[in-house]
Amino acid sequence: MNRVLITGGAGFIGSYTCDILIANGYQVTILDSLNSKTHNNEWPDYINEKATKVKGDVLDRDLMANILTAVDYVIHLAAEMDLNPDFQKFMDVNVGGTALIYELILKNNLPIKKVIVASTQFVYGEGKWRCEKHGKFEASLRTLDQMKQAKWDIHCPICGLHASYIKNKETHQNPSNHYALSKYFQEQLAINLGKLYSIPSVALRYSIVHGPRQSLKNAYSGALRTFALNLLVGNELATFEDNRTMRDFISVFDVAEANLLVLEKDEANYQVFNVAGDKEFSAYELAACLADKMKVPFKFSQKIEFRPGDIRFAVSDSAKLKKLGWLPRHSEENTLELYVNWLKEQKIDFEKFKETQVKIRELGIVKSLN
Ligand SMILES: NC(=O)c1ccc[n+]([C@@H]2O[C@H](COP(=O)([O-])OP(=O)(O)OC[C@H]3O[C@@H](n4cnc5c(N)ncnc54)[C@H](O)[C@@H]3O)[C@@H](O)[C@H]2O)c1
Repeated sequence: MNRVLITGGAGFIGSYTCDILIANGYQVTILDSLNSKTHNNEWPDYINEKATKVKGDVLDRDLMANILTAVDYVIHLAAEMDLNPDFQKFMDVNVGGTALIYELILKNNLPIKKVIVASTQFVYGEGKWRCEKHGKFEASLRTLDQMKQAKWDIHCPICGLHASYIKNKETHQNPSNHYALSKYFQEQLAINLGKLYSIPSVALRYSIVHGPRQSLKNAYSGALRTFALNLLVGNELATFEDNRTMRDFISVFDVAEANLLVLEKDEANYQVFNVAGDKEFSAYELAACLADKMKVPFKFSQKIEFRPGDIRFAVSDSAKLKKLGWLPRHSEENTLELYVNWLKEQKIDFEKFKETQVKIRELGIVKSLN
């Protein structure tokens, strides 16, 4: 039986990846620190009972050395996420944690068959745009000053005309915020050290992942979680900027299938793939669709807020992964239905939610124009 280590396996994507691997005959070990941002310092009850659970940190050298001797594959999902300004921690966990895996494989001469790392669509930064007159260009990060002046849109750097967006393809990258930078370093470590030392490696750039089991505790990011909790509280919904930031969403079930596919396919080795929903949604469309599924009134706030370092338009192209045989099967509508059904059964700490909503504004993660 093939043995797989899933770091961060108690989390949202990790737990479904664990389920699909076990259903396909793999033996799974989960290593998770039960990070207090996501968990209540205990194993969530959705963890597959056939999985072996180990509580620990991916930066714990002895623990990692030990576990890596007993597995064939690694799916490395444990990470520092969101946009909270713990810059050093992002580099330590996301870059250092990945480097440690390769270091231990090499130093201990471990016969690991493949390492898969979870990257993100945000490595594209503001992505590529097209000006009708001057052709394609790479947009740069919008500065805090621009955002404070509500200059949300991307314009041609030569003529200043309004530009149109091009979907992200794997050949491009322009990470701008600390999360995206740490994830880009992570994927570069994986692909390059993998090639250098013949450790088959794959980096997956997930778009925004939706579905049940996404921790309701973490209020630092996640439009779906924030909209859902605000709708339950009866608050007005505020989407960022002018409601026209665009994203694509992918179901966690399709992400788990992508993880399995690249683990099993040799053709995936040393490659980077988008795992994307392809279709773009505005934050407003997502909020309206969610309110409809939750059957609650949708009250829209006139307040204008933004997140420094946020991306205007993030939509990826999944053609490369589809060519490998991936077939996403869950529409966003269907995923939202599953999410809403799951939400009904959750105990929610609304006081904590309200506190974190205040905290992210105090920390400047979310800023207001008015
Ligand atoms: N959810 C998304 O929309 C999304 C999008 C793009 C990329 N990703 C990437 O996918 C991966 C999984 O994300 P998720 O949404 O399942 O998050 P999650 O918070 O639900 O799961 C992450 C898990 O990692 C654990 N963890 C964190 N730091 C750890 C450490 N130092 N040592 C051991 N365990 C640790 C946490 O306790 C948690 O259980 C991450 O690498 C993330 O960057 C997620």
